[in-house]
Amino acid sequence: MKKYICVVCGWIYDPKEGDPDGGIAPGTAFEDIPEDWTCPLCGVGKEDFELYVEEVATKKEVKQTPEQKSERKGLAYNEIVENVFAVGAQDWDRKLFDELIPLPDGTSYNAYLIKASEKTVLIDSVEPAKADDLLEHLMDLDIENIDYIVSNHAEQDHSGSIPLVLDMFPDAKVVTNPKCKKYLIDLLELEEDVFITVEDGEKLSLGNKTLEFIYTPWVHWPETMSTYLEEDKILFSCDFFGSHRATSRLFVVDEHKIVDDAKRYYAEIMMPFRNHIKKNIEKVEKREIKFIAPSHGPVYNRPALIIDAYKDWISPRVENKILIPYVSMHESTALLVDYLVKRFTEAGIHVIPFNLPKTDIGQLSIELVDAATVIFGSPVVLGGAHPQAVYAAYLANMLRPKVRYVSFVGSHGWGGKMVSQFQSILSDVKAEIIDPVFVRGIPKEENLDEIDAFVDKIIELHHNL
Ligand code: FEO
Repeated sequence: MKKYICVVCGWIYDPKEGDPDGGIAPGTAFEDIPEDWTCPLCGVGKEDFELYVEEVATKKEVKQTPEQKSERKGLAYNEIVENVFAVGAQDWDRKLFDELIPLPDGTSYNAYLIKASEKTVLIDSVEPAKADDLLEHLMDLDIENIDYIVSNHAEQDHSGSIPLVLDMFPDAKVVTNPKCKKYLIDLLELEEDVFITVEDGEKLSLGNKTLEFIYTPWVHWPETMSTYLEEDKILFSCDFFGSHRATSRLFVVDEHKIVDDAKRYYAEIMMPFRNHIKKNIEKVEKREIKFIAPSHGPVYNRPALIIDAYKDWISPRVENKILIPYVSMHESTALLVDYLVKRFTEAGIHVIPFNLPKTDIGQLSIELVDAATVIFGSPVVLGGAHPQAVYAAYLANMLRPKVRYVSFVGSHGWGGKMVSQFQSILSDVKAEIIDPVFVRGIPKEENLDEIDAFVDKIIELHHNL
């Protein structure tokens, strides 16, 4: 049951408590209160109450003068084309996504509002912690009614504020596919009757504009879909083509930088689903696309930028690049890694060592997108690999990069089972395993032949990439 606020004195009617002194029993919905009831604080009638959205500023509280709006730190809405607005939220301070991937530039949760001749539609919502930004942007636009809330994806960074939007616009229907509906009920406890479900390729007329729903599974969850606005040729792609960046710019400006941001996003979310992405790109490319409006990062006004980048990332092509994620406790493994870096560099191979206790694991993930070889380095600790190296290998296995070769190097004092441990962790990485090199203690002159043979073998493989 919903709370209502007195617009004169600010007293809030909570149906759980009712107004016993005024003869209203606890548990009475505001709608069921007799018409002659009055506010217990200021005495005005029921007609002077309006819906109160908890923890979110009411319309009355956030009405601002143009001067106040221009002073606001957060973003206002932005218009992509006439009557299509970006109304989401920027998260400038977020440092970690999924409690996993560092975000050096924050991120955004994009939502879009379409005002058509007959219907008004919200495409997705925002992370619940940023709901006030979304609702404020809707109020800035003087939106009095929302007919449909399209939910492209049930994950809470896009769906989490839907219940609040429904509180504010109780007549709105949530438009999504049957699988997403099920997830939304599980995650948000939405009522069954709030949904309209759509099939793959189904269209929805909004009057002078038309939406088409395109199932694009596994970008990022199995239920994910994209929504295409036919008349304006805008693809609302949700996570698909997204990038981690908070920005005041509506459209992509620095293309090179945004592709890097998108690569970080792709690495964590999309890389394991390359085959699905290929099919999904083919599917959406059947439409003419002027804009891609994802749910993270700026809008692409040159869609080929991100589509071509995705095509490259999902292709079998790898770069002449070797990654060495390693950890070293007493410098023995580090010395070995230094030598490998020197030899590979001399051979003209791009080599990147990642000192795991100090590295940005997101940067390692980015480089995994197109590296040809990964060599994990670790000392033997208590009979196995160092936990930091195990974590990196586990992450790589989850991301399933297209690397061609994998190997291991390190040092030990008295043996251990590190290699079998790594191989077991990396079971989903379909790469050729190159015989590893381990030295006893620090690398010495007597180890050079074995180390050089290892390096030469990898250089030869890279010559034939
Ligand atoms: Fe941006 Fe899968 O949520």
